[in-house]
Amino acid sequence: MLGRRVHYFAAVDSTMRVAAEMAERGESPGTVVLADEQTAGRGRFDRSWVSPPGVNLYFSLILRPALATVDAPLLTLALGLAVAEALRQGAGVACDLRWPNDVLLGGKKCCGILTELAAEGDRVRHVIAGIGVNVNQAEMPAELATTATSLRLETGREHSREALLDEILRQADHFTGLLVEGGAPAIVELFTRASSYARGKRVVVVDGGTGRTGLTAGLTPAGTLLLRQDDGAIVPVVAGSVRPLTE
Ligand code: BTN
Repeated sequence: MLGRRVHYFAAVDSTMRVAAEMAERGESPGTVVLADEQTAGRGRFDRSWVSPPGVNLYFSLILRPALATVDAPLLTLALGLAVAEALRQGAGVACDLRWPNDVLLGGKKCCGILTELAAEGDRVRHVIAGIGVNVNQAEMPAELATTATSLRLETGREHSREALLDEILRQADHFTGLLVEGGAPAIVELFTRASSYARGKRVVVVDGGTGRTGLTAGLTPAGTLLLRQDDGAIVPVVAGSVRPLTE
């Protein structure tokens, strides 16, 4: 069960580093590394994750799922579904999901998920899944204000971080179990239903390249997003992420 063991830190550089070190030393699966503040919180592509004290949730899960390495990216989708369901049940909000790892409220990001994989051949040895949820942050830094939000900003009230963490762990157990038992199709179908970005959304692919644009065209059975480019070609989004294009 996720969360049977919780290691809490008042402040830490990143729960990702601590959890990875614990996993390497054999810490049991389901363990949670939780921090009130991160001094060097990390996002995807080496971006930083703003992690002030006293307001949000920052935690990393140590997972040892019985999954083939090729299916590991689906964990990110499963955890997005888990956070969205937990916020629905725990805070009464309806989230959107942006492939592969963003949970959105009112079109802005309120949660990011970072999964780091350690593999042994074609099997997963462990995965560190980091989840940051902006819960009670009353103001976003100016450079993030148009793209990021918090539960408090969206609902106008504070939320219990403890209760939300409990619910996220419960839902994460459920959705990761669904992936391990049911394989990719169940998660791909649920994600497709829950995400306005899965199909028919005009986006730009942010991957350090030229910024391809097009319409999203569903997910492959392996959970990769497809893009119908403006030249008509349908291509997988193999790296990077997508952002909305409003014209
Ligand atoms: C992203 O959207 O780019 C992923 C953000 C992940 C942030 C969380 S906060 C807890 C864990 N520790 C980190 O340093 N990062 C993840």
